[in-house]
Amino acid sequence: MRILGIESSCDETGVALVEVTPGASTPPLLRSHALHSQISMHQAYGGVVPELASRDHIRRVLPLTDEVLAGAGCTLSDVDLVAYTQGPGLAGALLVGAGVAVALGAALQRPVLGIHHLEGHLLSPFLSADPPAFPFVALLVSGGHTQLMRVDGVGHYTLLGETIDDAAGEAFDKSAKLLGLPYPGGPGLSRLAEHGNPQAYALPRPLLRSGDLDFSFAGLKTAVLTQVKRLLSADLSGPLPADAALVLGDAVRADVAASTQAAIVDVLVAKSLSALTQTGLQRLVVAGGVGANRRLREQLNAACARQGIRVHYPEMHLCTDNGAMIAMAAAMRVQAGLWCPSDGVPGHSFAVRPRWPLSELSAVGV
Ligand code: KG4
Ligand code: ZN
Repeated sequence: MRILGIESSCDETGVALVEVTPGASTPPLLRSHALHSQISMHQAYGGVVPELASRDHIRRVLPLTDEVLAGAGCTLSDVDLVAYTQGPGLAGALLVGAGVAVALGAALQRPVLGIHHLEGHLLSPFLSADPPAFPFVALLVSGGHTQLMRVDGVGHYTLLGETIDDAAGEAFDKSAKLLGLPYPGGPGLSRLAEHGNPQAYALPRPLLRSGDLDFSFAGLKTAVLTQVKRLLSADLSGPLPADAALVLGDAVRADVAASTQAAIVDVLVAKSLSALTQTGLQRLVVAGGVGANRRLREQLNAACARQGIRVHYPEMHLCTDNGAMIAMAAAMRVQAGLWCPSDGVPGHSFAVRPRWPLSELSAVGV
């Protein structure tokens, strides 16, 4: 069975083709995937502009689909199921992927399946050479979400804790902006941090000892802002001077970046370990864009190795949004018997879910 997956929830258009044999135990196979990142388009605005995102998805999705089919040596008529990101995400951007998927389904007379974006991230490590086994604790760290989940199988997700304000990716992005780095700031901040001292500045580790598995990163951004103003001897109640990055200089910026990254990573590592202790599980899966962060990987690997816990990550290039994880999540749903051909028979109406708690999925098809 060939599954075409379409991702368009934010600023990446991703398309992929995954092959799966329903009922067999052989893992789904990624045949081909293609991605277009809109990052350079949004950089001029310092963040994602939803209307521009939707328009660009419209431009990219069909050429990417052609590229994926050619890469797999297939044509549209070889596709058996069309999967797309149904939510959460930007409403207009989601509507593009959903509209194209439903139109393809109707034209080809093939079923269509809406996938939860975070389920895609969560299952993306199954596309790696060292896939995990259920059950595991998942640390989902993206630009919009920071959650710890207990995962007992496909569709069996229990929320253990989540951020009460900003996501970890947002903390990276907002702090990076203060240091004059372009959007999205996570990768740039982490590169800058390589030359800095993580102990240079004492930044808060929010909710580190709260006893629960929730996160809070909004205060960290304020602490970074205050630290930068102090270094500039600027008015703490006034706006950040426009030339802040230039005046700070590269060495100090690197120290601030390293200290910020260390604060975020310390909290993510400590809470992940607490989740493992509380659940008694021996396996951790890290997914989402921040999962590409090198310090996070190093610190988690070291901490988990000390406790005999296995850690699994998606391939580096599949940490951020992509179509492969959407096609893979659909394939795993099919294989787990959570979807059957009579579901999702093509119609002409569809709905996206810009806000959609992952925990609601557990009730679907189980
Ligand atoms: O999962 P993703 O592609 O999109 C969402 O679903 O939100 O995650 C994007 C987020 C951004 O905040 C970006 O700055 C962050 O992941 N990110 C990183 C790194 N690579 C991407 N954060 C820290 N270090 C990285 N290497
Ligand atoms: Zn994402």
